[in-house]
Amino acid sequence: MTIGKIIDGKAYAAGLRDTVADGVAAFLAQTGRKPGLAVVLVGEDPASSVYVRSKGKMTVAVGMESYEFKRPVTIGQDDLLDLIAELNQDDRIDGILVQLPLPDHIDEASVIAAINPAKDVDGFHVVNAGRLATGQEALVPCTPMGCIMLLKDELGDLSGLEAVVVGRSNIVGKPMAQLLLAESCTVTIAHSRTRDLASIVHRADIVVAAVGRAEMVKGEWIKPGATVIDVGINRVTDTEDGKSRIVGDVATAEALAHVRAITPVPGGVGPMTIAVLLRNTLVAAHARAGLAKPEGL
Ligand code: GUN
Repeated sequence: MTIGKIIDGKAYAAGLRDTVADGVAAFLAQTGRKPGLAVVLVGEDPASSVYVRSKGKMTVAVGMESYEFKRPVTIGQDDLLDLIAELNQDDRIDGILVQLPLPDHIDEASVIAAINPAKDVDGFHVVNAGRLATGQEALVPCTPMGCIMLLKDELGDLSGLEAVVVGRSNIVGKPMAQLLLAESCTVTIAHSRTRDLASIVHRADIVVAAVGRAEMVKGEWIKPGATVIDVGINRVTDTEDGKSRIVGDVATAEALAHVRAITPVPGGVGPMTIAVLLRNTLVAAHARAGLAKPEGL
């Protein structure tokens, strides 16, 4: 029995950050300023705080300016919208990221709508979602963009391949489907109400699992030779030793016997998200400065 390849997202992300760092140095030489990324964190959710710290460190590591705006969980929506209006006006800032989820008393859609689409490095604004859906130049959500980069690196031309995306979120599933369609895949979006998910997944040359349910996609569902991208990050507690560990949305150990290649969890898609965020910030900085998109990005 052959075993599939484990896709090294960590290494790919490190290479992408190196390319971004070169682009940042060239931008500084051309414009006399560094690209700037502003991250807004409301409240003190531990997972969000870890992400934000990590984003800040990597932003500085590629040579950009990092601005952090921490606000209490009690902040009113109007005050948050005022902060975004300030960041929209601030010429030092090329990218604005509002860490999600936001507290229940704040309307996420209104906050995202307030971000200048030219600075929307998360690609969540409806203008960027609409541009992506209509094949125009757009800032694209970081996680699905990272997935498409790994797929193209592994498979080359994706045209004509059957792709099944499991999950329909605005952050991953829907933009992922748009990106695969733009690569001329035949795309199916499956979700929690899909009937006979096993047979739908079994059609796919490319499976992208983004449902947020631990090891829900079983190994035997995978068509022999398919490539699997596992976006899930689920904490589970081992029944035997009581220890907790992180697993994806795919039963990786089983799937390895079927796949051509698969992303591991952790170390697959996860490291790509921040690397693409930095890439998007550099792209946004170039567009705002009236410069052509940097090479290799
Ligand atoms: N929370 C979890 N993932 C993300 C992301 O990619 N962007 C933002 N803004 N918040 C998140």
